[in-house]
Amino acid sequence: MAPAVPATGVTCIPGEVIATDNLWKTYVMGDQEVHALRGVNLRIRHNEYVAIMGPSGSGKSTLMNLIGCLDSPSQGSYCLNGHDVSRLNDDELARIRNKEIGFVFQTFNLLARATALHNVELPLIYNGTGTVQRIERAKSVLESVGLGERMMHKPNEMSGGQRQRVAIARALVNSPSIILADEPTGNLDSKTGIEIMGLFEELHRRGNTIVLVTHEPDIAEHAHRVVTIRDGVIASDAPSTRMTPEAMLAGVSQNPASQVTVS
Ligand SMILES: Nc1ncnc2c1ncn2[C@@H]1O[C@H](COP(=O)(O)OP(=O)(O)OP(=O)(O)O)[C@@H](O)[C@H]1O
Ligand SMILES: [Mg+2]
Repeated sequence: MAPAVPATGVTCIPGEVIATDNLWKTYVMGDQEVHALRGVNLRIRHNEYVAIMGPSGSGKSTLMNLIGCLDSPSQGSYCLNGHDVSRLNDDELARIRNKEIGFVFQTFNLLARATALHNVELPLIYNGTGTVQRIERAKSVLESVGLGERMMHKPNEMSGGQRQRVAIARALVNSPSIILADEPTGNLDSKTGIEIMGLFEELHRRGNTIVLVTHEPDIAEHAHRVVTIRDGVIASDAPSTRMTPEAMLAGVSQNPASQVTVS
């Protein structure tokens, strides 16, 4: 796809992995319209680590679904990795999503009857990777998130933290540049949540761009930038409180180094 300047406004700039211009999402429910997003302008550069916060119903998941190519905006434009994706059809969106984006959800969204290995293989099945390569890659990613011993377990044979690791491995298996996580620690106890945040930090150190929705200020502090959404618009956008000016210049987190290895 060639870089594009869509008629609606936003200029797709290489290096800006996410650039939205006046993004609206309106859901129609019978004769009622719900304006979930009302003109969101958000720009995220390569290897940023961004937390999105805001009250329930403010539009966080709607925004994540749009930037994750799970849905299309009602109005406005969106450039992903320098390409306008706001007018693509569902098949084109699915192809881009599979290649560019790893999604992690609060409820893990794993196939209940499939093993961890099979769950992680799924995105590779969708993009036609051969069986041998697929199993090798899925095993390697599962090992990298500390699940080398649990590959043949099904979700109900694993703890919440282990399930979320499977979901993260599945998000990573196609080596996407962007990881989007919608309340990834929402169903986990605080200790397990911290372990999962260690994984995200490691992914960020390895060059991924991370956008994470959370209700918890402690979790948001792991990010370098906090965007707050209220009533479908960005109400604030500022560096995380843990970031010192020196760290901001160096682009490093003040959080303790994680022990988790991810390849
Ligand atoms: N599929 C849908 N159909 C109709 N309305 C929807 C749909 N999805 C979301 N909404 C509405 O859009 C608004 C934003 O919802 P969204 O799920 O984005 O909020 P959120 O900030 O993620 O909330 P939470 O913190 O509770 O997860 C809400 O008013 C919600 O009821
Ligand atoms: Mg939500």
